[in-house]
Amino acid sequence: MKKSLLALSAISLAACNQGEINQQTHKHSTQQTETSSEKETTTSDGSTTTPSDHKKHQKEVKDGITYIDNILIVNKDIALPESYAPGEIQEARQAIDQLIQQGNTQGLNLVLRSGFRSYATQTELYNNYVARDGQSKADTYSARPGHSEHQTGLAFDLGNTAGIDDFKVSFENTAEGKWIKENAQDYGFIIRYPKGKADITGYQYEPWHLRYLGKDTAQKVKSSGLTLEEYLGLK
Ligand code: DAL
Ligand code: ZN
Repeated sequence: MKKSLLALSAISLAACNQGEINQQTHKHSTQQTETSSEKETTTSDGSTTTPSDHKKHQKEVKDGITYIDNILIVNKDIALPESYAPGEIQEARQAIDQLIQQGNTQGLNLVLRSGFRSYATQTELYNNYVARDGQSKADTYSARPGHSEHQTGLAFDLGNTAGIDDFKVSFENTAEGKWIKENAQDYGFIIRYPKGKADITGYQYEPWHLRYLGKDTAQKVKSSGLTLEEYLGLK
């Protein structure tokens, strides 16, 4: 059952070029009203920015998409609009292709299992998991519609050709899982839902789920040892 659901998650890998990461579609944007009591600033392009916490992280909401310090963030608390469907982001796709290619040149057998998922596809997946495992269990490993990083086009799930550890915590013990953990940041990715951080991220350990941030940010997040939520001052 799970395999067929995961196969569903592997669809929609067709490329859809969208240009720069974190700077998407600043034109034609609609200003969002923040409810934060903190001081708002209106920038030259009309967006609203708000210091997100005492560390002075900058929060910006553009067309319903939330950025902290110019990094697109989606998690259990922060959603994407249902209509947001950028497809795969070319820069991220090129980076994951490079990671896979260079890993496999070193003897690994990395395989791309899943990339962009629309809101509708996430709805179908999530509802199937809820039907199978109940909502509270499903919520530990599957994002609710509008809350999946896969809807950003910046997240990818990797497996290996053997496939027996794909989408399992045991993937961390495969040669591919170990290599990703050591090297993903050098290609611009972080393991978004790290081990033992479910209380912060809201999700169980996913050693296969990579989020593209660009090399500089990914290396900083990795060095910090923090989850993305902590790094951005959200938790
Ligand atoms: N498995 C991750 C949390 C997702 O559904 O996006
Ligand atoms: Zn994933």
